[in-house]
Amino acid sequence: SFRKPMDKARDRLLHRILPAAGSVCDLACGGGDTALEMARSGKKVYAVDLSAGMCKLAREKASAAGLPVRVIRGDMRTFRLPEPVDLITCEYDALNHVPRKEDLCKVAEAVARALKPGGHFYFDVNNRKGFRQYWCTTFWIEKPGLALVMRNGNDHARDRAWCDVEWFIREGALWRRRKERVEEVCWSGEEMRRALHGAGFDKIRTWDGGQYFKMQRGCRTIYLARKRAGRLPGRHGGA
Ligand SMILES: C[S@@+](CC[C@H](N)C(=O)[O-])C[C@H]1O[C@@H](n2cnc3c(N)ncnc32)[C@H](O)[C@@H]1O
Repeated sequence: SFRKPMDKARDRLLHRILPAAGSVCDLACGGGDTALEMARSGKKVYAVDLSAGMCKLAREKASAAGLPVRVIRGDMRTFRLPEPVDLITCEYDALNHVPRKEDLCKVAEAVARALKPGGHFYFDVNNRKGFRQYWCTTFWIEKPGLALVMRNGNDHARDRAWCDVEWFIREGALWRRRKERVEEVCWSGEEMRRALHGAGFDKIRTWDGGQYFKMQRGCRTIYLARKRAGRLPGRHGGA
């Protein structure tokens, strides 16, 4: 399935951290699949997303599965949790959705605030090479009752890429047409490290996501950052 690469990467890269994490938050949770997966293993789980529709979907899935996931509508630049957690995940390049360059520091600070000292932030991002390689072509999917086209473009100079998604869903004898533009901002490794260090993360590890996704090497990076274990000065200290 579409989700398998990320599940495999998480299991492998967090094999020491996940079992020890009693409380987690999936940031930009989308439909909530990762949050549900973690709730199944008995963790206390929060899930945050900006979209009311995605929050509703995640709540419905959690309720249908009988899992106690607390879904909070929030912006990753400003969100707050009721209590600090051990681990925050943010998967499938959700961090590339942050709209402005200066917003990255806000995300790093909000995440640091929501983590316990020594807690971890795990996420993946598309890189410049990925933007050049993949955000320039047209893809389409055809299934019974669905036809979907993705027209991608990018602007190297501005570190931005976009995907115009247009899809048709069969509704009885008719087809309903929908359109949406998804935009992404690219972060260099240096920008990412600066934002994370500035927010109080002291240990940062990276992996090439190409080994988990069927894509060329160097197009996607997976990060694991640890919040400093001691007391942090000022605003990064508590939940
Ligand atoms: C590519 S999807 C990733 C979904 C999810 N992480 C997963 O693994 O399926 C991006 C998600 O980020 C959310 N999002 C975009 N901007 C956001 C923001 N500023 N704060 C919180 N969520 C945001 C969108 O609503 C969407 O659900």
